[in-house]
Amino acid sequence: MAALDARDVPVDPRSKERLSASGLDYRIVDMSDPAQQRGFARADARGFLDKEPDDETIRLMGEMMSERRNIGVYAPGGELPVATVDSWVTPMTVPGDAGSHIDMWAISAVTVAATHRRRGIARNLLEGELRAAAAAGVPIAGLTATEATIYGRYGFGPAIPVSHLQVDARRAGGISWPAVGDATTVEYIEPEALRTALGEVHERTRLDRSGDIPGWSLRWRRMAGLVPGDERSRAVRGVRAADADGVTRGVLAYTLDELAEEFGADLAIRHLDAETPEALRALWAFAVNHDLIRTLRADLRPVDDPLPWLVANQRAVQVTVHDHGWLRILDVPAVLAARTYRAPLDLVLRVSDPLGLAEGTWRLRVGQDGRGIVDATADAPDVELGVDMLSSLYLGGVSATTLRAAGRISAAAETAVAIQDAFGTAAAPALSIWY
Ligand SMILES: CC(C)(COP(=O)(O)OP(=O)(O)OC[C@H]1O[C@@H](n2cnc3c(N)ncnc32)[C@H](O)[C@@H]1OP(=O)(O)O)[C@@H](O)C(=O)NCCC(=O)NCCS
Repeated sequence: MAALDARDVPVDPRSKERLSASGLDYRIVDMSDPAQQRGFARADARGFLDKEPDDETIRLMGEMMSERRNIGVYAPGGELPVATVDSWVTPMTVPGDAGSHIDMWAISAVTVAATHRRRGIARNLLEGELRAAAAAGVPIAGLTATEATIYGRYGFGPAIPVSHLQVDARRAGGISWPAVGDATTVEYIEPEALRTALGEVHERTRLDRSGDIPGWSLRWRRMAGLVPGDERSRAVRGVRAADADGVTRGVLAYTLDELAEEFGADLAIRHLDAETPEALRALWAFAVNHDLIRTLRADLRPVDDPLPWLVANQRAVQVTVHDHGWLRILDVPAVLAARTYRAPLDLVLRVSDPLGLAEGTWRLRVGQDGRGIVDATADAPDVELGVDMLSSLYLGGVSATTLRAAGRISAAAETAVAIQDAFGTAAAPALSIWY
């Protein structure tokens, strides 16, 4: 697990000073104080357009938030903060041997009250998070975003694209399953078992895919339909895929929504995780071959999910790729040395950074073993790029040739190809959770 506890990291003095000049108090929220905990949870819900949280939801959110560093911005006399953000340090899987990871400063709960928007509060929150993380020695920050237009200005780049899959189940022609010799079985499980299976399977699959991070207890409770205040809870069902020895290798949580006009339902996947191709095929077959389903939807699937190749009729599957995981490099040498590469490379990168945190010129040398050595250099650059684009390239989620074609990086054509050969990964990066 991560060595550093974000709760020990003090607030950024520059953001504190700037917000204080506007009469606002920027401080770490004391989650052991029920009033502060309640105020933070209510402000968070209001900021994300949710209903007022009930007492049980506030209690569960409080448990989760107590594990994190929570910052509130308070107007004089205000009970609820006018802005919120929270963060924690978490391992993020990077390309390399099984279990290779880097510490990431995860940022969540970014809200500014509708009464206080567009006067620079979010800028102070984000810059404050990044300066605090960099000062604490965390090499990269990450988040998921409600809108793709918010975070580029702070040096974040979309790095982990995912697919939204929509299947016309009646046209799909079904999935032929099981294959000869495949002893995988699928069975329904009760909510408590579902919660346990979601957490356990994810804890293993996240190590196989660059970009993924551990989940947390409230997330699995919610996915399993065990949060009482969540009105969708009772609609949740779950199945597990077990191997020949009965070991859980995959898990699926889903809901069914009845159709108004006929007997049938639409199926929405809440979470699908599988650690073997057999388990993944079994769970997709369960969902696609389910009787009486009109449409099936799943989001946050890796862009190389095999579903279109499992069904008889590919045209029944609509794939929409969209941005999901955003990364923001804070320490260029540390992140470049943390992963392995698929081809040798000798590259001088000049990185620009609007906040100055990752600005500089480095030489990345990758040997036959795929390991990178990074040194500061005064040599002329082969590629010039912003820290946002280096963050987008980091896990191979976008090709350097694509970014060159878009005018987002400056490099010769053959340099872009060489970067892609080295940075590209066998499996697409993945991030199966929102945070
Ligand atoms: C998004 C949000 C946090 C922005 O807060 P804010 O205090 O109004 O933002 P700021 O005034 O600090 O704006 C900083 C910059 O971001 C821009 N910006 C703010 N909100 C934006 C949005 N929704 N889309 C695009 N740009 C946005 C501003 O124009 C400003 O640009 P500039 O400094 O480069 O000129 C706020 O609107 C909010 O709480 N939204 C609802 C919850 C949400 O979506 N949170 C994000 C979670 S991932």
